[in-house]
Amino acid sequence: MSTSSLPVTERYGKTLHPGGQAPTDAPAWTSGVDNPYLHGVYAPTTREVVSGALPVEGELPRDLYGAYFRNGPNSVHAPINRYHWFDGDGMVHGIWFENGEARYANRWVQTRGFAAEQESMDSIWGGVLGPFDFTLPGGPLKDTANTDLISMDGALYALWYESGKLYRLDPQTLETLGVESFGEQLRRRVSAHSKTCPHTGDFLFFSYGDRPPYMRYGVRSRDGRFHQVDITLPGPRRPHDIGITPRFSILHDFPMFFDPELFKRTGKRIPLFHREVPTRYGVIPRWGSDTDMQWFEFEPCYMLHVVNCWEEGDTVVMVGCRTDDPTLRPDRRDGKIAAMLSGIKLQASLYRWTMNLRTGETSEGPLDDLNAEFPMINPRVLGVQSRYSYHQIIPYEIPAAFHGIAKYDLQTGGVTTVDYGDGVFGSESPFAPAADAGPDAAEDDGYVVTFVTDRSDWSSACLVYRADQLSDGPVARVQLPIRVPAGFHATWMPGAELA
Ligand SMILES: [Fe+2]
Repeated sequence: MSTSSLPVTERYGKTLHPGGQAPTDAPAWTSGVDNPYLHGVYAPTTREVVSGALPVEGELPRDLYGAYFRNGPNSVHAPINRYHWFDGDGMVHGIWFENGEARYANRWVQTRGFAAEQESMDSIWGGVLGPFDFTLPGGPLKDTANTDLISMDGALYALWYESGKLYRLDPQTLETLGVESFGEQLRRRVSAHSKTCPHTGDFLFFSYGDRPPYMRYGVRSRDGRFHQVDITLPGPRRPHDIGITPRFSILHDFPMFFDPELFKRTGKRIPLFHREVPTRYGVIPRWGSDTDMQWFEFEPCYMLHVVNCWEEGDTVVMVGCRTDDPTLRPDRRDGKIAAMLSGIKLQASLYRWTMNLRTGETSEGPLDDLNAEFPMINPRVLGVQSRYSYHQIIPYEIPAAFHGIAKYDLQTGGVTTVDYGDGVFGSESPFAPAADAGPDAAEDDGYVVTFVTDRSDWSSACLVYRADQLSDGPVARVQLPIRVPAGFHATWMPGAELA
């Protein structure tokens, strides 16, 4: 039998199950679906648990006080069309640290789509690979809230990369409290990577869609002042993140987009990279409108995640994880799901752009060539010049299986890396400031926290590193009661306690 005629899951089997065993806690229906995004590192779990104090190797620091939360796709029901990893119902895994002890809990985000499918005990919505059924309530895709997590005024929110409702979660229980509208003021969808300004508490949000206006941007101040504007774009775009500084927001227009006519005819979004079209970044005053926007052109590229932005006089600096050529290159050996698999093979490295608001001058260039993404910084320096960032090192074959952390030092240009170990994959690793770190504390005075899962026995743990001594390895390893599948974004919430 040639390799190409093996079922895809089997072809990827060696990488997905190095120990030869599949996870035993995955839903029974997954065994009948030949789709790699439902197996191995991606296999959803059927379990929701709340733990007591967990076993710890090493010592949990006393000044690690708060919770690490991580979101990710975790399907409940068998898919009704070709499944993509991005389609899974949102599940949040949390670990709470206090007085040198740690406890864990996980829960699905109880979105409206999740509730409707619980009621029908089956999938109602298909996934991003289409075809799309526009007659379904809320649109052809289920808003899973599976992508990102942010905290604001003591609440935790789950967000979706396709722009969805702002789901409010209880940071003490992970219970879904409902859709946040700030007293009916927020009537628009909100994309993952909308942000809370650490200096003012302003909520900076954006959304994008298939029909005009292709992008929307807004601000809500802590005292409830609201500002929402439409952004003019040449067509539907797929921005994923924004940058913020104290005075500006930086919006993205990448030459990676689908043909709206083809979409209308076929109901399929086929993203193409247009190498002849420049990348554009729009700098808009925080409370400004479309007419205040200043656009800057750069070499064509794509970027999922911004590391940080800041102002240097008249210049806005943006550092991010840039993909030089996001063209999808299907591997024919992957058969009918070749296009789907190519879409997730992420190649991105650290890069810097500058935009002079007075002269219009720009500059750009690479800072490193390591394939690393999912950057995190000390939230205290969001929007101001920062020195350190913590990225996941990404293998090519299964990009979700992050195999280590890279800590960048923008001041020296240095990078420190640690590896999670053979067959072990990690999660996005936010910076957790030491509980007593004041505004003058060193930027890396704190911890880097992550979940890891060992593919040889599917056990999961939480690792805690000292951010300023990353290469020494974790200071504590907390055994988790259940397996944590590969996922998306994480956040650190200072002072959060498990109920
Ligand atoms: Fe993201």
